[in-house]
Amino acid sequence: MSQHPDAIAPHGGHLINRIVSPAQKQEFLAQGETMPRLQLSDRALCDLILIAIGGFSPLTGFMDQKDYDPVVTDMRLGNGLPWSVPITLPVSEEIAEPLKEGSWVRLDDTEGKFVGVLELTQKYRYNKALEAVNVYRTEDQKHPGVKVLYEQGPINLAGPIWLLDREAHPQFPDYQIDPAQSRELFREKGWKSIVAFQTRNPIHRAHEYITKCALESVDALFLHPLVGVTKGDDIPADVRMRCYEILMEKYYPKDRVILAINPAAMRYAGPREAIFHALLRKNYGCTHFIVGRDHAGVGDYYGTYDAQHIFEEFEPGELGIVPMKFEHAFFCKLTKSMATTKTSPSNPDQRIHLSGTKVREMLRNGELPPPEFSRPEVAAELARAMRVAVESY
Ligand code: ADX
Repeated sequence: MSQHPDAIAPHGGHLINRIVSPAQKQEFLAQGETMPRLQLSDRALCDLILIAIGGFSPLTGFMDQKDYDPVVTDMRLGNGLPWSVPITLPVSEEIAEPLKEGSWVRLDDTEGKFVGVLELTQKYRYNKALEAVNVYRTEDQKHPGVKVLYEQGPINLAGPIWLLDREAHPQFPDYQIDPAQSRELFREKGWKSIVAFQTRNPIHRAHEYITKCALESVDALFLHPLVGVTKGDDIPADVRMRCYEILMEKYYPKDRVILAINPAAMRYAGPREAIFHALLRKNYGCTHFIVGRDHAGVGDYYGTYDAQHIFEEFEPGELGIVPMKFEHAFFCKLTKSMATTKTSPSNPDQRIHLSGTKVREMLRNGELPPPEFSRPEVAAELARAMRVAVESY
């Protein structure tokens, strides 16, 4: 039995908080004037925030080589804890050269605003091909995650970080629920089992089906769409959020579902990212995590269920959070309901397969996704957003 007061302990046992106190902030602001400056990419800023709010517990900063190497080769941190995706701060040789190990670096966002501090403990070179093959299972630079990897600098800066302010999200302040708050919320509600759902798409009928199947056997659903950096052709977060709100209003039980934003950047690392996504939700206090077909995949880089099989590479209990695995869900014309091959006697011709990619394709062609694809209110909202995008192009 867990000794932790919450339904599940954070990864590593302790929720990390690297947001500075008001007094520390004043000190950093004064010292920041004399520190060397580093401008963070949007992805690095997402990572900085997630480290600071404890979403990446037990990480307290960007990985040094003692964590990076075993993460890439064995999906483990230096202390042996499971971790599947490198959290690094790569820079060019020119930027790295004047920075001295042991010094403090001022971190700015892309607009030059002072957002955090790095205590630079190590600079190290890393092997991009090894990271690509191990983490993304491909060196193909058409893969969006691999592309970022090959475009980034060759030297990782490592060390603990601090975040100066946890600002309200500019677009979705009401849905910004950080790990300490979600844990408190779950405690208040008395929920003992909470399933998290990761998505970067508007919720279509297959998503709705698997989340509801999961909800049948746990206390609550944590609807946790990713709103950090995504690739250009993914549907923008504001459109998706309106779709989630519509569904929450009409199709989900309000007292058993919480909608909150996940500020992480997408890596599209398929299986490795499924483990990463699960650990992230464990830190938010979720006990279960949904893994469906081709989780966090892109193109044809991963097998349909690779992101489920990878969970078997860990001993039971090592991850803590329990994966809830779902087969490819479709609309069954025979039984006139959502189903998978586990529950439907249909033949392939009687199945309407749904995917975010298909919905995007239809919208681009000016077609409205049918009710077997998408709830009509969601389809209407997506079509409206597409018209606005086309008109303002
Ligand atoms: S992801 O990159 O966030 O994984 P997406 O938003 O499409 O993309 O998927 C969210 C979750 O729903 C993932 O766990 C994915 O495996 C699952 N999923 C998506 N479509 C289906 C489907 N038709 N059947 C079963 N699971 C699905």
